[in-house]
Amino acid sequence: MAGTYAVELRNVTKRYNELVAVNNLNLNIDKGEIFGILGPNGSGKSTTLKMLLGLLQPDEGNVNVLGIDSRVDPVGVKRLVGYAPEAPHLYEFLTGIEFLDFIGDIYGMQAEEKRSRINEYLKALQLEGREGDMISSYSEGMKQKIALIAAFLHKPKLLILDEPLNALDPRSARIVKDFLQQLKNQGVTTIMSTHILEIAQAVCDRIGIMYQGKLLALGNMEELRKMASLPNSALEDIFLKLTGTGDIKAVVEELVK
Ligand SMILES: Nc1ncnc2c1ncn2[C@@H]1O[C@H](COP(=O)(O)OP(=O)(O)OP(=O)(O)O)[C@@H](O)[C@H]1O
Ligand SMILES: [Mg+2]
Repeated sequence: MAGTYAVELRNVTKRYNELVAVNNLNLNIDKGEIFGILGPNGSGKSTTLKMLLGLLQPDEGNVNVLGIDSRVDPVGVKRLVGYAPEAPHLYEFLTGIEFLDFIGDIYGMQAEEKRSRINEYLKALQLEGREGDMISSYSEGMKQKIALIAAFLHKPKLLILDEPLNALDPRSARIVKDFLQQLKNQGVTTIMSTHILEIAQAVCDRIGIMYQGKLLALGNMEELRKMASLPNSALEDIFLKLTGTGDIKAVVEELVK
């Protein structure tokens, strides 16, 4: 039934010419869930996230986000969703504060709330004092922080974060992780792709492992352990076993020959 889940993907297929990037994907994500999408490079994670945002349209199937069909009401979806892309295109000739101001205006935020939220986030992520510098002068991690603040700013109901923590220092990563937990308590849903398996294991309620455009495994840590028949294992071992990349030793031996 539409609207029961935060996100519903029904028989979703996306092709880039001959290449099937997402292959008949079915997935429901509950409201308030923190969901991790894992998978090797090119397995279809970013393509899936972009379809949730309405940035890409599926060739087949239906995508429903917070009860809205993104094909019918793409602006309605964007209003409720915050997105941090994997390689954010920030306006590098703007300063951090100008960019965030601009984002707040796009979402129609009141000036006072916008300012106070921006300042709060800049402080929490230790960007205070650098907000007046041009984005082009920021380090990778600083740019990622700006992209995250831009995603959080308008209090979205659904956060879509494509590899959000890979450039963050440990303190900032911890702050973002704790913040996601707080948002969860307020009913916000987060869907994030990540290659950092410790983060997925620590933060996500459920994890989906994609492989060649399909969902290879889906569940919480306990269920994934069962699926991989690895009762006491960390996510890394489960991931490597399920995605068939367990022959790492042989590959490395070949490399050092
Ligand atoms: N714009 C595009 N045009 C053509 N092919 C594309 C395009 N975007 C993605 N693809 C292809 O679709 C497949 C899935 O790509 P996608 O970016 O969804 O993978 P991913 O799981 O996010 O990978 P990564 O871990 O490297 O970010 C890949 O084979 C990729 O080459
Ligand atoms: Mg990607």
